[in-house]
Amino acid sequence: MKILAISGSLRAASTNMALLRAACRLAPPGMIVSLYDGLGHLPIFNPDDDIEPGIPAVEDFRRRLRQSDGVLVACPEYAHGVPGGLKNALDWIVASGELVDKPMALFHASARSDISRQALAEILVTMSARLIREATVTVPLLGRNVGEMDDILIQPGVEADIRAALVGFATAVGAMRQTVAVAG
Ligand SMILES: Cc1cc2nc3c(=O)[nH]c(=O)nc-3n(C[C@H](O)[C@H](O)[C@H](O)COP(=O)(O)O)c2cc1C
Repeated sequence: MKILAISGSLRAASTNMALLRAACRLAPPGMIVSLYDGLGHLPIFNPDDDIEPGIPAVEDFRRRLRQSDGVLVACPEYAHGVPGGLKNALDWIVASGELVDKPMALFHASARSDISRQALAEILVTMSARLIREATVTVPLLGRNVGEMDDILIQPGVEADIRAALVGFATAVGAMRQTVAVAG
């Protein structure tokens, strides 16, 4: 089972990216979590530019989504909103539909950010993604250094929470794949 992980933060020392790296490390057997690092290379969405031949960075993003069984997103809140880079990436795939029926999990590296969480969930549901609520996890990393991350993640509760969310995600993705196979 292939999961594409997307951080809404482009910061080199991003806690959201660190959380996704932890997910890569803690993924259960049979699940491979790989990081998408192209968010900052996508041009600003303009429907007029969404023509053949496709823009390579956009095509690569779409291909990686199509090849994934599920998508994991960790994202900060900026001024009560979803960061522009992530929203821009999502705008590129509204019409092409790579998120339609795609199982998605949201990981949170801050215990705040309620407004952008709701906004992101609304955007994803509008795009017909399947949000797997039981795969949501919050690890309060706000203000931490990435260098401290190992110390945080080895705490039993934190590691267990991430593992449990990933197992919940794997179960939901597996069940949805089975439903599609039976229907097909
Ligand atoms: C420009 C800017 C605006 C922010 N606005 C908010 C906000 O409205 N609400 C909030 O909870 N945090 C806000 N924050 C804090 C970030 O969401 C927080 O630092 C985040 O966890 C950083 O994620 P990262 O370590 O992955 O970059 C803001 C940070 C920046 C840089």
